[in-house]
Amino acid sequence: MSFKKNIGWETHLKPFLYKKLPEGTGWSAILGTLCALTFGILVLTGMVLAFYYVPSPDKAWLSVQFISNEVPMGNIVRGLHHWGAGAMVLLVFCHLMVTYLHGAYLAPRQGTWLTGAFLFLIVLGLGFTGYLLPWDMKAYWATVVGANIPSQYPLVGGYISRFILGGEGMSGFTLTRFYSVHTLVLPACLLLFAAIHIYFIRLHNLSDPRERLAGEKLPPETGIPYRFFPEHMSRTMLGFGVVVGALFLLAAFIPAPLEEKAGTFIADYLPRPEWYYMWLFQLLTYFSGAWEMAGSLLLPVGGVALLLLVPFISESRMKGMVNRPISMAIGTTFILCVVFLTVMAYSDAAPYNKTVVIPSTPLTKEQQAGLAVFVERECSYCHNIMGKGGHRTGPDMSNMVRKGRTAEYLSNYIKKPTSILASSTMPAYELTPQELADLSAFLLSLHFTKGVTPVEVSTADILKKK
Ligand code: HEC
Repeated sequence: MSFKKNIGWETHLKPFLYKKLPEGTGWSAILGTLCALTFGILVLTGMVLAFYYVPSPDKAWLSVQFISNEVPMGNIVRGLHHWGAGAMVLLVFCHLMVTYLHGAYLAPRQGTWLTGAFLFLIVLGLGFTGYLLPWDMKAYWATVVGANIPSQYPLVGGYISRFILGGEGMSGFTLTRFYSVHTLVLPACLLLFAAIHIYFIRLHNLSDPRERLAGEKLPPETGIPYRFFPEHMSRTMLGFGVVVGALFLLAAFIPAPLEEKAGTFIADYLPRPEWYYMWLFQLLTYFSGAWEMAGSLLLPVGGVALLLLVPFISESRMKGMVNRPISMAIGTTFILCVVFLTVMAYSDAAPYNKTVVIPSTPLTKEQQAGLAVFVERECSYCHNIMGKGGHRTGPDMSNMVRKGRTAEYLSNYIKKPTSILASSTMPAYELTPQELADLSAFLLSLHFTKGVTPVEVSTADILKKK
């Protein structure tokens, strides 16, 4: 009896456990608790992975391979961590969208929303830092692309990129820094914000579904209790069982992928981020030239600002979907855009290889052939010409003459980039000497002086002509 008293059972623990939640709370309310439990899986599996993982460029990939192939159940643990991370991003996103659609962020729950929005960003950060750790091709490339995005920002851009990378380029410092952020910094932030988030939820309770339906005046209670325990917890455990079951199935039948070790020669390797970043990756491809900064700076900063401001600029003081048509339209449009961009990214409907910029003066036969190689090999996956037609992972191809590049230099670069720039991240291309010569000739034709203006032509036409 005195033990119960000493741990504050009657005064603190019991009220916490049996806390009354609003009557008629729906199934969607379990999403938040599911996020917390899924985070638990990630912590547990992450601890096991850390027993074996070595954060250094020469050992990281081997240690991950060792975990997958040698450690008993290692493949399952790694699979759970990998798929669990994806599930976590998905669950947090759903939780956020449901909260938004329900209008549950309205006063007095602004604090709950704000801490939740930060938790969302922290989870995205955990994803970004996590997928570098296997140090495979995908990891390496996705990080190069991601870390270089801020480098074009005015003033502080270079500093931000160097801070992320731990130097001028990718190195062991990038890996150790990502490891520390992934396993120490962000989980600590996550726990802190989760604690505040839960405090706010306890303080203001979940939003009452009857408010959403009825507006200002609440209908009378029906007297059917809905408590944190046992009603809410039993629903949550059922949902969690489904999540865990799905994760085990995924881990067992689709092992977490591990591509070739970073820096391996793979001809025509095209970098891609993890699926939950694909929509952003796709979005960036729509901005080129003078609009680049709009896509890489204004959009993300504006997006985060909007996310944080939601409770303060909402159209109505009313909750529920029918009472907030504008918010509803914005929310559903956003979800549709994310889904649409993801599908576009995977169906390779990227605008990057739709058109290519050529000089207005007629091309020689050689240059014409080089243009076809440029299109076929999808160089525009990483290179723009005059700020158009491609991504910006690499330099703009219209600068080659101005930089004093010769045909020989260009051929050598394309054949084996590391022979010219040891730290190069461009894939090497196995092309015939003829193709290399043609390609170099084409690149050198991209010299836009007076009288030579850039014209955009369709890549489909070029391939048809061939
Ligand atoms: C996966 C991204 C990627 C692809 C695809 C790619 N490049 Fe590159 N390229 C780069 C990067 C990044 C650089 C900048 C320095 C480096 O890391 O090599 C570069 C540099 C270059 C350079 C040297 C520029 C200079 O000023 O020295 C040339 C030339 C070049 N690329 C041509 C091509 C051609 C031609 C193709 C298609 C056959 C191609 N690239 C495909 C990423 C790529």
